[in-house]
Amino acid sequence: MYIQGLLADVATRLPMEERRVIVQEWSTTMPAVVAAIIRSFPQSDLAGLLPTLIELDGTLTSGAAVPASQVDDREARENRTDAARLADEVTLALGRSADRRAKEHLRVTFAETTERRDMIVRALAQTPAADDWPRLVEGLKSADPAVSRASVEALLRLETKPTDATPFRLLITAAQRLGDAGGVLAVRLHNQWAGLELPTTREQLGKSFEAQKDWFHQTFPGETLAADSAAAPAHHHWKFEEILAYVTQNNRGRNGKVLRGRKLFEQSTCIKCHRFEGTGSGIGPDLTTLGKRFKREDILTAVYFPSREINDQYKSVLIELNNGVVLTAMLAGQNKDETTLLLPDGSERKVANSEIATTQTSKTSIMPDAALNEYELDQIADLLAFLESGEEKGPQTQK
Ligand code: HEC
Repeated sequence: MYIQGLLADVATRLPMEERRVIVQEWSTTMPAVVAAIIRSFPQSDLAGLLPTLIELDGTLTSGAAVPASQVDDREARENRTDAARLADEVTLALGRSADRRAKEHLRVTFAETTERRDMIVRALAQTPAADDWPRLVEGLKSADPAVSRASVEALLRLETKPTDATPFRLLITAAQRLGDAGGVLAVRLHNQWAGLELPTTREQLGKSFEAQKDWFHQTFPGETLAADSAAAPAHHHWKFEEILAYVTQNNRGRNGKVLRGRKLFEQSTCIKCHRFEGTGSGIGPDLTTLGKRFKREDILTAVYFPSREINDQYKSVLIELNNGVVLTAMLAGQNKDETTLLLPDGSERKVANSEIATTQTSKTSIMPDAALNEYELDQIADLLAFLESGEEKGPQTQK
């Protein structure tokens, strides 16, 4: 992991031509390094890489179609994870490219497969084109808030308007699902589409949601809306009880593998926000002593329902920018010109103070609440075994 990071770092500083060669000969290099190089390519230089990217996208996505649960061999499964990440990076790069061939490739893939749709929507949303309007509308359906939000932001930049009820239904549902983290933007889009003037402040969000629904029923009599409850919680792939039963009653589930868990932890976003035995970063609590402080069920609860109990020290804020974008974040620093925010994906973002419209404390943790969705049950068991395994090291034993 460490060496890989180092290599990726060095590789992204190589001259453009050498980076291009590494991508062209991608199969001889670690996927994570290839991914870092692709990420480092500015839009203007992507054109030369296009044939390789398109080929790579096809190759990787056909491999990624095998569900992780069917890959038994540990190494094969881990390689698949790296390959899947590389595939994401390739897809994003294709979306970033201004070239027609890149977009066309993404559109065809979108039509032919369903597994990659979220990623393709995110890719297309980076430089929205009117031709992609239907795909961006489709993106509103995504269970991943980052995706539905990217769709809303991209649709706001296009002038196309819906001609029937469906896009409005998807938008209204997405607005409620996004709640504080993008609901305002969704209401804005509704205004733009329907020529309305619903309030677009967070304080009046609840009112706007009601108004959206009323408008829908008046405009499309007889059509139904699925969105009835306010701000539905994140979509969870596993039920809490399902995981709990597995990790407390199933033999394999009770005996997770610490080393595999460590790998998962290091490869996930967890490590961007938590320290464990001296590695990782410190936005969230240090998790080293978790096993001593918490029962298994409580650890699972903390990961599954991050917002249930939040220590004052870790309160997050809702920042509304002048352009209507609302961010859930933790404050990492502020000087007279700009504010540094830590975002739920663990990344840092600096915004100019002059861009910030309002700041409010939030009841939502910045810890992602569907973090376990990407894991199989046995992987969750491994992760828990790892989280319970921490040993506090004295200064003399520390490397
Ligand atoms: C964006 C930053 C972020 C990411 C990513 C993140 N966490 Fe957290 N985590 C936090 C913050 C902040 C808290 C404290 C506030 C809270 O409880 O929500 C926390 C709390 C916790 C707690 C409770 C700890 C305690 O001492 O009360 C556990 C356990 C935990 N996280 C595990 C994880 C795991 C496992 C992952 C990866 C799947 C993860 N976190 C990913 C920020 C993050």
